[in-house]
Amino acid sequence: MINIEELKEKAITKIKEATSLKELDDIKVNYLGKKGEITAIMQTFRDMAEEDRKKLGKIINDAKVSIDELIRERQKSFNAAILNEKLKMESIDVTLPSKKVGIGHLHPCTIVFNDVKDIFEKMGYTVVTGPEIEYDEYNFEKLNIEKGHPARDEQDTFYINDKVLLRTQTSPVQARVMEKGKLPICIISAGRVFRSDSVDATHSPTFHQIEGLVVSDNISFADLKGTLTTFAKSFFGEDIKTRFRPHHFPFTEPSAEMDVSCFKCGGKGCRFCKGEGWIEILGCGMVNPRVYELCGLDKDKCQGFAFGMGIERLALLKYEIDDMRLLYENDVRFLSQFD
Ligand code: DAH
Repeated sequence: MINIEELKEKAITKIKEATSLKELDDIKVNYLGKKGEITAIMQTFRDMAEEDRKKLGKIINDAKVSIDELIRERQKSFNAAILNEKLKMESIDVTLPSKKVGIGHLHPCTIVFNDVKDIFEKMGYTVVTGPEIEYDEYNFEKLNIEKGHPARDEQDTFYINDKVLLRTQTSPVQARVMEKGKLPICIISAGRVFRSDSVDATHSPTFHQIEGLVVSDNISFADLKGTLTTFAKSFFGEDIKTRFRPHHFPFTEPSAEMDVSCFKCGGKGCRFCKGEGWIEILGCGMVNPRVYELCGLDKDKCQGFAFGMGIERLALLKYEIDDMRLLYENDVRFLSQFD
């Protein structure tokens, strides 16, 4: 006769000693499975007398329940341990330093434009915009550059048709503002311009300009000089000097180019300023009375000045970049040097 108590104790010891869920499963199969030891004993009942069957039946059933309960208990604690382990692995250490996210940089031309814009806004200028695809009428005609004028050849133009072109300068914005007829005018306008130039270290078929226009009834060349000198000092530094050289633009009379004293050598002459001591920065002049007429303003009631400069040129000078192409390649290693 098999000793059921002994069998149960053996099973309980094995269950307690089990070190994995797999071992527990095996024990369950070995004792309670279809071919398990407890099951086998139960099958012998068939041949027993009624009395014995009842007695033994209870004992073996109790043993079966105890073994089953213990297995379940241990399964539970194994599962809890596995879950704990998993949670521990997945836990996040909030005190670890975070990964650095790469932050983008402003393009040097954007920085320059923002600086120039800030300076003029502080002086009371408003920023306006104009279209890049422009009428010949605004780009040339209303700026006193009629058909056949040599200035049209200087600015090799991309024509879309007889009347429409890619603007070669930001000056057409002046005509668009004056045409509205509201005085006083005190604006700057920046944007992309196009000229059919081939690419090299100092040329590109597209670049950017900033234009300025002031029109009222009592504006003099002294205002122009004062304004642009204030701008140059704010942009390049207080020690900078300016000089105005006579020049010619069809839309201004008189016209001038403004130079600043070389900020590398202070004006003595160096490689940067090609020994000149001066660096050309912009074109300017008093608005030509003819332009007032062409834009529908009364030339006898208007006095004003205008100026225009290249953003890339300012960026090359300010950051001492020797090749304009670097500005268009958008190599992040280059761009990340400017803040
Ligand atoms: N539009 C001229 C250019 O592209 C620059 C310029 C010169 C603009 C004198 C002006 C000005 O408004 O008064 O070369």
